[in-house]
Amino acid sequence: MKVHVYKDAETAGKAAGLLFAAQIIRKPASVLGFATGSTPLPAYQTLVNLYEAGVLDFSNIRTFNLDEYAGIDRSHSQSYYRFMFDNLFSKVNIPPESVRVPNPAATSLEAECAEYDAAIDAAGGIDLQILGIGNNGHIAFNEPGSFPFGTHIVELTPSTIEANKRFFDSADDVPRKAISMGIGSIMKAREIVMLITGANKAPAAAAMINGPVDSACPASILQMHPNVTVLLDSAAAAML
Ligand code: F6R
Repeated sequence: MKVHVYKDAETAGKAAGLLFAAQIIRKPASVLGFATGSTPLPAYQTLVNLYEAGVLDFSNIRTFNLDEYAGIDRSHSQSYYRFMFDNLFSKVNIPPESVRVPNPAATSLEAECAEYDAAIDAAGGIDLQILGIGNNGHIAFNEPGSFPFGTHIVELTPSTIEANKRFFDSADDVPRKAISMGIGSIMKAREIVMLITGANKAPAAAAMINGPVDSACPASILQMHPNVTVLLDSAAAAML
């Protein structure tokens, strides 16, 4: 893993955005893997700024998102589909049909999971994937305790419900289930950028980078990937 530490979250996020910008410039028909959450917002803003400045063209880009809540509609203010349109897709020239987020309204969620992995393969695989990490070491919604391979349906852990309740009226309103790309689906990406910011992420960052490869910290599997760049702010790097 290549590890870079920046002074603050904004700067680390900009660096992640610039790695994505370079990918888009090098390969205008890239397949990009996106994440939601607070962490990647400065990266997405960097991409929007570069698009507005005429540096980036998204017209041939295809994207896959890591995960989506089950049980809420795509129009829900907290749906990850809506998050991506609000923060990136509606602000750049990506054709709406080129973006894919797991569909919680599919008639069969199991079929949606299988189709999702097949669609990534059919697109040629993900060239560059951005990841955030949960306080408990999760990546996407792959919670501690196992390394599920493909896209699958997950039950959220109490820790994740607690962490995500800030986006809902209360913890009771956080969906209990989600659709998530698996560890195998993520590891198939040709290149991964892991962005970690904030003091609350310091233990998870240390476990991921310096700990054993263990499903107690699902992100530790990234030690086995040949092309991972970890970008941290100084607060998240405090325990390295
Ligand atoms: C979101 C995702 C999650 C988040 C993680 C960190 O698509 O896959 O694993 O990356 O929960 O979330 P934030 O950035 O909000 O701290």
